[in-house]
Amino acid sequence: MNRTARNLRRVVVLAAALLATAAVAGGLDRLPPDHVFTPGDGSPGKVTFSHQNHLDPAKPGCTNCHPRLFKTLEKGATADGSPIRHAIMEKGGQCGACHGKGAFGFDSCDSCHR
Ligand code: HEC
Ligand code: HEC
Ligand code: HEC
Repeated sequence: MNRTARNLRRVVVLAAALLATAAVAGGLDRLPPDHVFTPGDGSPGKVTFSHQNHLDPAKPGCTNCHPRLFKTLEKGATADGSPIRHAIMEKGGQCGACHGKGAFGFDSCDSCHR
């Protein structure tokens, strides 16, 4: 590649990156802020849930989680109001509707507890 072609390629890559950022910001700028769950007994560290990291801006799929798993009118509340427990998640409830099936499971604690 000569210098002009290299520079042109740089501009194209930069423009694509800017467009991607604009699309994300434009599509999902009203999402709730990250939520830190209140640690239960013996929790090895605080768990933060991020809408940003759970949504595809092209198809947000709010109904994958609401209202079946989590309430929207109350911060951090599960569908039936019970606290998040591994015993429930291991049976496919709460975060366990996906984690442990498709999404990463519960073996590596610090994937969630930090
Ligand atoms: C992967 C699961 C998941 C998806 C998908 C999801 N949410 Fe949530 N949502 C949660 C969880 C977990 C909570 C509880 C933590 C919290 O309160 O932020 C929550 C809480 C909320 C709350 C209450 C939080 C607050 O600060 O008031 C609102 C409102 C909400 N979601 C809206 C949405 C909307 C709108 C979408 C789609 C654009 C969406 N959610 C998609 C899991 C999800
Ligand atoms: C609708 C399915 C779904 C639900 C419900 C869900 N997740 Fe996830 N989560 C995913 C997927 C998919 C990823 C991407 C990583 C992967 O594919 O393994 C992810 C990634 C994450 C990550 C890594 C990214 C980050 O934000 O640091 C954390 C932590 C996480 N989830 C925590 C949770 C917690 C806590 C809950 C319950 C409050 C939850 N998730 C509920 C599907 C889900
Ligand atoms: C997919 C995310 C995720 C992973 C991975 C995970 N946890 Fe949790 N865990 C949670 C959430 C969400 C809570 C509820 C908030 C809290 O108590 O901090 C929780 C709560 C807990 C609790 C208190 C409530 C209960 O069910 O007893 C303990 C103890 C716990 N986790 C231990 C662990 C250990 C040990 C590991 C690794 C072997 C682990 N967790 C991996 C998400 C996860």
